[in-house]
Amino acid sequence: MTAPEIHRTIDELRAALRPARQVGDRIAMVPTMGALHEGHLSLVERARVEADRVVVSIFVNPTQFAPHEDFDAYPRDEDKDLKLLGAFDVEAAFIPSVREMYPQGFATGVTVGGPSEGLESAFRPHFFDGVALVVTKLLLAAMPDVAIFGEKDYQQLCVVRRMARDLNIPTEIIGAPTVREPDGLAMSSRNVYLSPEERRTAASLPEILREAVERIVGGEDTHDVLPISRQRLEARGFKVDYLELRDGDTLGPVTDDTRSRRILVAAWLGKTRLIDNMAV
Ligand code: PAF
Repeated sequence: MTAPEIHRTIDELRAALRPARQVGDRIAMVPTMGALHEGHLSLVERARVEADRVVVSIFVNPTQFAPHEDFDAYPRDEDKDLKLLGAFDVEAAFIPSVREMYPQGFATGVTVGGPSEGLESAFRPHFFDGVALVVTKLLLAAMPDVAIFGEKDYQQLCVVRRMARDLNIPTEIIGAPTVREPDGLAMSSRNVYLSPEERRTAASLPEILREAVERIVGGEDTHDVLPISRQRLEARGFKVDYLELRDGDTLGPVTDDTRSRRILVAAWLGKTRLIDNMAV
């Protein structure tokens, strides 16, 4: 176990990565907002396979939260995160301040169309501008050869992929599978907000999603299946923001050219918003 070297400024991070780059080491980045769990650690493991050096960023990015959202309440535990990263032999942690990432007078935005349209954007219109901006900054700071993002935030993964492609950012964007609790709930830093009763109910989200996948694969019409799934979620106490079948590559509507399909869902349980998705 080695404690990761902590870099709090972009200059420090670049200086630390320079020697590795000069000897031709491959660098992987795992962008996170901290409150690390097994889902994040699976991204770190994937990064290890892909590269010689792994940088994990920990930054709760204010620009992707709306004023009424949980920016202040978002779980933060730097010491615990660093211990976990140490156990996974991560050499470098990039932990900038808000001021380092967004200095006085900051005036630039990054907006991605295409896959960012609908789904999350219909309910959190600020979200992908904030994600695209911070991920651009993180990738430009570290200039990694690869960056790993979880499929749990599937729309985010598609948006980041499109952004990297459109802006010719020379980083390969890799998606890693969702890690689930034994009862199927997708791991998320926000699961800590759930009360014990809500936590038990939360397992019905992946269960109902999986059943919908099976029925659609079994040949039933999506237009029949999804409204029933929505009703079942509502009967268990979820307030559903969206439950949709989309093209898994473009996130547009499913067409004759569609090669992969995904069901994506966002639903509230009390004050906690859960998202999940599954390939069909
Ligand atoms: O998925 C997350 O944790 C965040 O949206 C990300 C990609 C680290 C950007 O802040």
